[in-house]
Parts: sequence; structure tokens; C-alpha cells
Amino acid sequence: MNKLIASLFILIILYGIFNAYFSGTKSARDHRQKTTAYHSHAKSHQASHFEEELSQIDTPEYAKQYIISVINHGSYDLGFVGGVMEGGYVSREDAPKIACYVLSLSGKKCSEPYPADAEMFFTSVCGGCHGNDGKGLGGNYPDLTREKLLGIEHREAFLREKVARSKKEQ
Ligand code: HEC
Repeated sequence: MNKLIASLFILIILYGIFNAYFSGTKSARDHRQKTTAYHSHAKSHQASHFEEELSQIDTPEYAKQYIISVINHGSYDLGFVGGVMEGGYVSREDAPKIACYVLSLSGKKCSEPYPADAEMFFTSVCGGCHGNDGKGLGGNYPDLTREKLLGIEHREAFLREKVARSKKEQ
């Protein structure tokens, strides 16, 4: 009788272990499937954001926003002899009008014209490094008259690579 109880006991324990193991792996498998699905969803979602950004990248509005962000937050990755550029040389209110003036240096236009004092702001605040003509004092500073600014060029290359990679993975 004791033997019977002992074997029953062992059976119950074995059943418990079996159950715990398989329900555990099943939920782990479910979780893994869900996570993989989530990642591929997130990736394709991100890729569509990248594509949307790429479709805007040649517009004057995109360039304007980029220049405003450099004026406010600085620029640190372009590797010029002149060093880095800190943000905040002008107030947040003045940044958009100076950005529109900078755009005009490469023949582009904001939807609204920049005010007359924007050129004066540019030459007094930015011209010391970028030159009053914006050409970057012989390559020591970025040339702001380029058709496409370097930061935008780099961003475009990054986005194109991401989109190409996500297409390959699909
Ligand atoms: C003290 C020197 C200095 C001043 C003043 C300065 N910059 Fe710069 N600027 C730089 C340097 C250096 C870089 C590149 C830094 C990096 O990313 O390595 C740069 C980068 C930029 C870029 C990015 C260029 C590109 O091709 O992507 C823009 C736009 C820009 N500056 C606009 C301005 C404007 C507008 C002002 C005036 C409000 C200004 N800068 C004032 C030194 C300066």
C-alpha cells in the first residue's frame, strides 16, 4: 500500500513537471511569435516613416527646418577645421527668419519672405565663420550656398540605406 501511495505521489509530481514545462514553453513560444511580429510591424512602420521623410527631403520646408534646428541646437558631426557649432547664437524667434535668409543663399525660398533685417543678422552673427557670402571661408566652415546642405545629404544617405535594408528583409 505504501508503495502504491509513493508511486502515485511520483506520478503527480511528474505530471506537474511535465505540465509546467510544456505550458511554459508554449507561452514562451507565443511570446516569441508576438515579439517577432511586433518587431517586423515596428520595422515596416519605421520604414514607412523613413520613406515619408525621404519624400520631403528636397523641399525648401525640410531645409528650413534643418537650418532652424542647427541654429537652435548646433551641429557637431560634420568634421570641419573650424570645429563644431554651438546652438543658440540667436533667439528662437529669430531662427526661422535667418533660416529663410540662409535658404536664399542656395536660390531657395521660404513660403513667406524673410524680413529685411535677416541679412544683417546673418552677416553679424553667422558671417564670422560661414563668411558674409555663406561660402564657408575657403572650406574651413560649411558652405551654406550648396544645393543640398551636408547634414541633409547625410540624413538622406542614412534614410535610403534603412529603407533599402528593410525592403531586403521583407
Ligand atoms: C563659431 C563659428 C560659427 C558660427 C558663429 C556659426 N556657425 Fe554654423 N557651423 C559652424 C561649424 C564649424 C559647422 C559644422 C560643425 C559640425 O557639424 O562639425 C556649422 C554648421 C552649420 C550648418 C550645417 C551645414 C550643413 O552643410 O549641414 C548650418 C546650416 C549653419 N552652420 C548655419 C549657421 C547660421 C545660420 C549661423 C548664425 C546664426 C551660424 N551657422 C553660426 C560654425 C559656425
